[in-house]
Amino acid sequence: MQVLPKGIRHIPGFLDREKQQNLVETVRAIVTASPLYVPAMPRTGKPMSVRMTNCGSLGWVTDKEQGYRYQALHPVTGQPWPAIPDVLLDIWQTVSGTGKEPEACLVNFYTDDARMGLHQDRDEKDLESPVVSISLGDTCLFRVGGRERSDSTLSFKLASGDVVVLGGEGRLAFHGVDKIYPNTSTLLKNGGRINLTLRRVTQ
Ligand code: SIN
Ligand code: FE2
Repeated sequence: MQVLPKGIRHIPGFLDREKQQNLVETVRAIVTASPLYVPAMPRTGKPMSVRMTNCGSLGWVTDKEQGYRYQALHPVTGQPWPAIPDVLLDIWQTVSGTGKEPEACLVNFYTDDARMGLHQDRDEKDLESPVVSISLGDTCLFRVGGRERSDSTLSFKLASGDVVVLGGEGRLAFHGVDKIYPNTSTLLKNGGRINLTLRRVTQ
C-alpha cells in the first residue's frame, strides 16, 4: 500500500453492508426534506456535475453571485437544513479525535460522469477539527496532495463504506474525485455515488 500524505487516513470498509444500507435510508430522508440542487461555480456560474444538499445547522453552498460559503438555509427551498442524524454524529465521534460537534454535513451525489476538481476545504473557521468523509455506492478514484496546488498528488480508490479523515497536517490537503467507476456497487438501486462530509465550521 502506498503511504498517504501526513494527516490523511483511509479506513476501508469502516461501515459494513448493513450499516451502509441503513445510512442510505438516512440519506434518503435527508434528501426528501432537503432536495439535491445543482451548485454553481463562483463568478462563472458554471454548474457543477455533482448535485448537493446538506444536513446540520450550517450547509456548504455555492452559486455564481456569492460563491463558496456556509449558510443555515437551503438555497432553493429557503428552509433550514435537517439535523445531522445520530448515526453520522457517532461516526464523527469515533474517528474525528475532537470533542467538538460537527455543524455541517455536505451530501454530494455523483452520477457516472460526475467529478470534483482538486480543491481545499477552507471555508471553515475551525481548521483544527478534521474533515470526515464517508463513501456510499459506486467506487471512485480519489486524488489527494499537499497544501499547495502544485504539490505532487497520489490517487486511490474509495469504495462503499470507506471513510477518509483529513486532519492535522492533512486538513488543508488538496483533494478531488477524478472519476466514478460505474456499476461497481449494488448499494444504490440506480447507481452513482454518495459522499458525506462532516465538518466543524465555527470555532
Ligand atoms: C468533497 O471534497 O467535498 C468530496 C470528496 C468526495 O466525494 O470523496
Ligand atoms: Fe472537499
